[in-house]
Amino acid sequence: MSDSQPPICDYEGSDYQEKFWEHGSREYEDRVEAIALQRLLPEGGSRLLEVGAGAGRNTARYQGYQQIVLLDYSRTQIELAQKRLGESERYVYVVGDVYRLPFAQEAFDAATMIRTLHHLVEPQKALSQIRPTLIPGSTFILEYANKRNLKAIARWVFRRQAWSPFDPEAIEFAELNFNFHPRVINKWLKQEGFSPGRKLTVSHFRLNLLKRHVPLNVLVALDSMMQRTGNWIQLTPSVFQFTLVEGEPGRVREGSIWRCPECDSLELQMTTKGLSCKGCKRIWPVRNGIYDFKNPL
Ligand SMILES: C[S@@+](CC[C@H](N)C(=O)[O-])C[C@H]1O[C@@H](n2cnc3c(N)ncnc32)[C@H](O)[C@@H]1O
Repeated sequence: MSDSQPPICDYEGSDYQEKFWEHGSREYEDRVEAIALQRLLPEGGSRLLEVGAGAGRNTARYQGYQQIVLLDYSRTQIELAQKRLGESERYVYVVGDVYRLPFAQEAFDAATMIRTLHHLVEPQKALSQIRPTLIPGSTFILEYANKRNLKAIARWVFRRQAWSPFDPEAIEFAELNFNFHPRVINKWLKQEGFSPGRKLTVSHFRLNLLKRHVPLNVLVALDSMMQRTGNWIQLTPSVFQFTLVEGEPGRVREGSIWRCPECDSLELQMTTKGLSCKGCKRIWPVRNGIYDFKNPL
């Protein structure tokens, strides 16, 4: 783990939501992910943090939570989320970096990070940032891309791929796109104070041929049945991991949730321009209902 800023997979201006999800024939993946989330996440709570929220594809699935804080590095993704979900006290829109989260300790009683870990050069550093923002006893759902999946194993066996899916090292299959070994994810989670529980394997049938020829509802039903096998073996490209934050269960902190990502001060005061930090005097702008912790004034 280093203190320098790791490179970031920047989605600024990206048409990811539209191209990948809305016009990318990904209904199967979207539906099976929704099932996994529903199975793992407690029905409700006070405040949930969605890390790498993107355009808020999953946010409506957190209905039982009183408040949902969406954080993403890309302002344009957060703007899309705001457009889709609307402005209300329930949703807090934040532009920020998972490596330097702008939140006070124990501000949340649940968190999710879906399809985001696979962009992180320093995944354990990100986990170490998320952990203190959660109260003990709370739930963190982590989705990660699994390098030990059936397709990678077959390709390796038939010498179509040089790297071994059984090697614990993460594999960067494209720039800033990583697949991880489940055992390593487990180790990192434990080291950062999470207690890993159930695993669900997701997207068993992520093959264009199957998606083209088998009715969507059949594929979704089969995937749903097979997800629970993830507790014993993980051979799918995507894994949903349930974790509990270790320690005596507590209550979400009252008052402000903010922490300065530059100087760690908890004294941030709302001004007409944004949140003004008493510690380092930076002002973190709030524009059009979006908190910006990337570009201080
Ligand atoms: C593949 S998208 C997933 C979006 C959403 N979770 C979903 O499943 O639809 C990955 C998201 O992670 C965000 N991201 C990447 N690196 C980040 C970082 N260091 N801090 C915060 N967000 C980051 C990107 O901006 C992008 O919106």
